Amino acid sequence: MATICCPCCWALFSEENQREYLRDQVITIFLAGYETVANALTWTWYLLSQNPKAEARLHSELREVLKGRDPTFDDLSKLCYAEMVLAESMRIYPPAWAMGRKARRDFSLGPYNLPKNTTVLMSQFLMHRNAKYFPDPLRFDPQRFSAHAKAARPKCVYFPFGAGPRQCIGESFAWMESVLVLSVIAQKWRLQLEPSHRVEPQPLITLRPKYGMRMRFERR
Ligand code: HEM
Repeated sequence: MATICCPCCWALFSEENQREYLRDQVITIFLAGYETVANALTWTWYLLSQNPKAEARLHSELREVLKGRDPTFDDLSKLCYAEMVLAESMRIYPPAWAMGRKARRDFSLGPYNLPKNTTVLMSQFLMHRNAKYFPDPLRFDPQRFSAHAKAARPKCVYFPFGAGPRQCIGESFAWMESVLVLSVIAQKWRLQLEPSHRVEPQPLITLRPKYGMRMRFERR
């Protein structure tokens, strides 16, 4: 796919290439930006339904900051607990659960020698559940993402959006979207898991709930 950097490049494209380019962009946004956020929010509702104290704290933040109105972009910096809830949810159930890099040449990494073309896999799912960095890793605790706790952890032990030059280009958009959607819905509704519903992660390209997530909406 050719790269378009400005309207002049766009004008030089044939109509057929413009169509192909637009299609590629739409597919990228759809796959990279839709399913990831949908999974993050789905797991977040599940975790909140299992952790009433965290849910109550989120509700209290929403009451204090929003006082019943819908959130706007300007509220984002004040919805700190909502962001911590999402961060902790993406720790336990990272929507992108593993990613890879391929060595373009022979390469040494610490004690490892990686010949050219070696595929290196890095798993968010495994790292985020490593008790060395996240004690009692299966416990849902948004406080792990207070400014103080974050500063105490080494860089890159938490990387739901990847890292380095190919890091997710939509990260800021994803935080904005997720905090706003969570706040709008949580302000009016509590979501409760259907008691008999089986919850199991399914690691495909993204980490989905294998049997979906059957939840009941209760008006708050
Ligand atoms: C919770 C939401 C999201 C998660 C967890 C997520 C995660 C990721 C990860 C792990 C990567 C690979 C990074 C790497 O290789 O280092 C990636 C790449 C990418 N993401 Fe996201 N993403 C999310 C939302 C979005 C959104 C909303 C968009 C667009 C609106 C987006 C667009 C992209 C694109 C275009 C790439 C490829 C970047 C490249 O290769 O240069 N993502 N994302």
